[in-house]
Amino acid sequence: MNTEDFKGFGLIEPIMRALEEEKFSTPTPIQKETIPLILAGKDVMGCAQTGSGKTAAYALPMLQSLHKTQTSPVRRSVRALVVAPTRELADQIAGCFTSFGRHLNLSVAVVYGGVGKGDQIDRLHQGVDVLVATPGRLLDLMEQGRLVLARTQILVLDEADRMLDMGFIPDIKRIVMALPSRRQSMLFSATIPPMIVGLAANILDRPHHIEIASIHRNDPQIEQKVLFVRQNKKNELLLQLLADRAVSRALVFTRTKHRANSLARELSKKRVKSDALHGDKSQSERLKALASFHAGHIQVLVATDLASRGLDVDDIDHVINYELPNEPEVYIHRIGRTARAGKRGIALSFCDRSEMVYLRQIEKTLNKKLPVWEDHPFHSPEEAGAPRGTESGGRHGSGGYQKSRGPGSARQGGGKRRSRKPGGGSRKAPGAPSRSQGRGPRTQETSRSGGR
Ligand SMILES: Nc1ncnc2c1ncn2[C@@H]1O[C@H](COP(=O)(O)OP(=O)(O)OP(=O)(O)O)[C@@H](O)[C@H]1O
Ligand SMILES: [Mg+2]
Repeated sequence: MNTEDFKGFGLIEPIMRALEEEKFSTPTPIQKETIPLILAGKDVMGCAQTGSGKTAAYALPMLQSLHKTQTSPVRRSVRALVVAPTRELADQIAGCFTSFGRHLNLSVAVVYGGVGKGDQIDRLHQGVDVLVATPGRLLDLMEQGRLVLARTQILVLDEADRMLDMGFIPDIKRIVMALPSRRQSMLFSATIPPMIVGLAANILDRPHHIEIASIHRNDPQIEQKVLFVRQNKKNELLLQLLADRAVSRALVFTRTKHRANSLARELSKKRVKSDALHGDKSQSERLKALASFHAGHIQVLVATDLASRGLDVDDIDHVINYELPNEPEVYIHRIGRTARAGKRGIALSFCDRSEMVYLRQIEKTLNKKLPVWEDHPFHSPEEAGAPRGTESGGRHGSGGYQKSRGPGSARQGGGKRRSRKPGGGSRKAPGAPSRSQGRGPRTQETSRSGGR
């Protein structure tokens, strides 16, 4: 099979036409691997880096399979179900199905919380071919008898590790229980930690594991730098960075909704066009903030981790971690909002002494030290080098960062990219680990409200 272009997969003409219109000419590595498997009806666990085209990797073959086996959807049934952690991501995925399937006669619907149920119920009444949903609203509609999954043939969990973590797993178990056991199932994410492989064993049947880039990501397209800075200097530093003309579209992450709000307000006061995106906003405010960011009406979107997964906004040139996340995977997803589809981007992380522990965890996961921007005027050696016995050194039991020779040269370890496992290998996954193997409290804001 020649998979150098999409023709090699035997995709039907209406899909090929849509791909041409979307200017998709060459399949990405994950698409090369998974499209043939999914067309052949196999279960797949696909792990490939952020922005590498995982959506099309499952959507294209699903559209073809649904078209080929076309039967009118049965009332209140869905033929294929995609579950995603946030409303914004569900919308985006549904948009991809609509776009790739524009020349096919297949129906696509999306359901999530925070908006009225009426339209969603009407939409589901006749049945739909593809439903994209967040778990909470999906379960609500199922409980009300508005939706039945007993005839669903295909399941996708996008951002699979997020869907199978503590916040979502009870909901996902209930959804899976409602599905027929004979079905095709797929899991996709840029990060699939080993414990997820165990949990996935209950969902997938003899899955093909495709891993294009491992979690030990060393992506040269993203220039990553750490700025050691005092907590009370972070606003000033951010304003200075944003004043640079090179920063035209920046996504700034905070750990809390409150901080996202206050920071966006502060930026607006200083005449930086910005808005905030987090789970305490109404859905219409969330959509408005994201739409103005997409359209380039604002330079900066300040967001919680609600925006860390899956969102595909063109040409975000900078991701700025105003605060570091307490989970390394979240860092990987956050910085992956830039440098998508083969482009380049910059990820800057502010780190004060209290966050050193998070930085260490991130570097351990990435298997490399992140370069430190040492000659920046805001660089604070005290934050970088708190000796043992002080707050950060004592609490986290680690020494400080040493001075390096300048930006880019700072203690950069040889992070290595694990080579791809050959596709087609089926593996019996070990049993599900206990909850206690989780990594403690999470700040990721999508835990429940985002999925509702
Ligand atoms: N074969 C292709 N040719 C050109 N552009 C592509 C191709 N495949 C995907 N893209 C584009 O790449 C971008 C990223 O795709 P997508 O959102 O599917 O990435 P992802 O792997 O799901 O990332 P994440 O892990 O962040 O969810 C999108 O804008 C998409 O349109
Ligand atoms: Mg994605």
